[in-house]
Amino acid sequence: MFKWANLFRFRRDEYEKDFYSPNGKTTVHFSLKNGRITYSVHRDGKLIIWPSNLGFKICGERPLHENLSLVREHHERHEETVEMPWGEDQFIPNNYFEEAFFLSEKDGDGRIFTLRFRLFDNGLAFRYEIPPQPKFSQITIEDELTEFHINQNSTAYKIPAFEPDRYEYNYEKCSVSELIHSVHTPLTIHTPTGCYLSIHEAALYNYGAMTIKLNDNGSLTANITPLSDHTKAHVSLPFTTPWRLIMLADSCVELTTNRLIYVLNEPPHADFSWVKTLKFIGIWWAMYVGEWTWAPGDRHGATTEHAKEYIDAAVRLGISGLLVEGWNEGWEGDWLENGINNKFTVATPDFDLDAVTSYAKEKNIELVGHHETVGFIDNYEKQLDAAYRYYAEHGVHYIKTGYAGSQMMINGRKEYHHSQLGVNHYQKTVELAAKYHICLDIHEPIKGTGIERTWPNLLSREGARGQEYEGGALFPSHACFLPYTRLLAGGMDYTPGIFDLQNNVKRIATTLARQLAYFVTIYSGMTMAADRPFMYEDRFPEEFKFIRSVPNDFTKTIPLAGEIGEYYVVARKDRHSQDWYIGGVTNEYGRTVVVTLDFLENGAYDADIYNDSADAHYRDNPFGIEISHKKLGRSDTLKLHLAPGGGFAIRLHKI
Ligand code: NOJ
Ligand code: CA
Repeated sequence: MFKWANLFRFRRDEYEKDFYSPNGKTTVHFSLKNGRITYSVHRDGKLIIWPSNLGFKICGERPLHENLSLVREHHERHEETVEMPWGEDQFIPNNYFEEAFFLSEKDGDGRIFTLRFRLFDNGLAFRYEIPPQPKFSQITIEDELTEFHINQNSTAYKIPAFEPDRYEYNYEKCSVSELIHSVHTPLTIHTPTGCYLSIHEAALYNYGAMTIKLNDNGSLTANITPLSDHTKAHVSLPFTTPWRLIMLADSCVELTTNRLIYVLNEPPHADFSWVKTLKFIGIWWAMYVGEWTWAPGDRHGATTEHAKEYIDAAVRLGISGLLVEGWNEGWEGDWLENGINNKFTVATPDFDLDAVTSYAKEKNIELVGHHETVGFIDNYEKQLDAAYRYYAEHGVHYIKTGYAGSQMMINGRKEYHHSQLGVNHYQKTVELAAKYHICLDIHEPIKGTGIERTWPNLLSREGARGQEYEGGALFPSHACFLPYTRLLAGGMDYTPGIFDLQNNVKRIATTLARQLAYFVTIYSGMTMAADRPFMYEDRFPEEFKFIRSVPNDFTKTIPLAGEIGEYYVVARKDRHSQDWYIGGVTNEYGRTVVVTLDFLENGAYDADIYNDSADAHYRDNPFGIEISHKKLGRSDTLKLHLAPGGGFAIRLHKI
């Protein structure tokens, strides 16, 4: 019988190998024993991932994890600096040792696959690569058996998977032993040995997203999101899984700038020099506070008249874009139920897209179009090409998409947003948008796995609880969890900058200074200044100056201080000037942080400091703010007070 393995002269039935990160701090031990493969990880000589199993169950076939032998091995040292077209850090080191193990079954059809590891100073990635082979070309994955065997006494920060609100939950601290129900990644964990790690994935294409849960052996295991037919993915070979990624750091603050998801994705295959980050206002929060509606009627928000007024306001405010939600047919009645009839090329009678887009063009304002699909993918995909072409023909270069609804409707069946079919739908929109030179901001998205490197037109996503949950469901601690968890998956459209903090319909649980801080602590390639223009122009013009100046494209990001769920302080340097921005947020407890400015370049800076006043409090005195101006340099140190639910924002303008 033909056996692939026979092609290889080298063959080992038992094998062990240690390989090291470039700085020698992390070691991976690979083992092939009794036909099974495992890996384990040491950091600073301490075991952090105990021997963990690898492999697959495949429908209608023998599982692909036993009776294996090693038929080839390849190793390589890679050293490179990746440049990102926009983002939090312009240059990202891509330095690793790669070890690829080519494995074959000893009997049966002798099926083969490769297990490829990349070991960086700040993390370990590995993936499975399955080539096409006789009698093995179309496969259905029943289960991926990848384990991350971690001390169960470690602390984890979780949001639940497979729940109706997708990723939109509050983070909870628990022990790894409690992860008996699936949770989403990035799953951040603090081990008793003092290591911080976050389990995530990179380059998620054509496969269900990985969730994590404790299995019966007490090991964390990949639980791939199922399809409605209860399988995990249908793929044709060759097939490569996403990278299974374990980010590693000695402190939680260091973890926040782990950018391995990007270097594990491919460079773009086309010219994306047309992509530009964007700051915008929106016909948006007025709907949340009940002044306007998405649906047509007396208080319809998306009218031609309102859009023109907001365009004029954007010009006065010095903001480049305007989002308009509720302009298209389909929002009447219960829009969640009725969303199945949404029309993406038909405007409501009171909204004239031609008039609005030509007015926007005249005023040099980018319109951000909106598609709320409510997860009715069958309805959306039928219109997809026409809908994107329609915007492109009107000179609209940005679209915010949305997938409200607890599940998607695909091919007439309910599927998870993060299933293989969901993943493939989101990818289709990214690629089609690229074809029409359109940038996307996806709400209710698939989590970020670094594909923005390959598809830079994917400027932002939501994918966590954002400010729309204010009014009771957003705790001050939430924004102090995000940098250590969700934001490890890339930028987020959190809709910052709500100044109307004591609105009776939606009370905001933050201080005013903290709303400015968000523009620094939560990165987004497309950032909405989310409140209505009058709050900026009439009520708080001084505070708004910070929003106008803060960029959303940075050369480098330096995390300065923090603790998971408690506080976070970060500095970022503008990519298009010599200026620096610093932001800090705290949970429901006030605190003082000391910021040493030694990361600045030589020379003097004009500093604008927006700080909670001594008596500010998110509940009783949210507007308590002090604005001061100083000359500062790299030998200076700042002592900053953060009120309960508060924060601060600083602009350092190089003189
Ligand atoms: C939820 C999104 O997160 C929000 O931004 C949007 O306004 C609504 N869906 C309606 O599409
Ligand atoms: Ca949402």
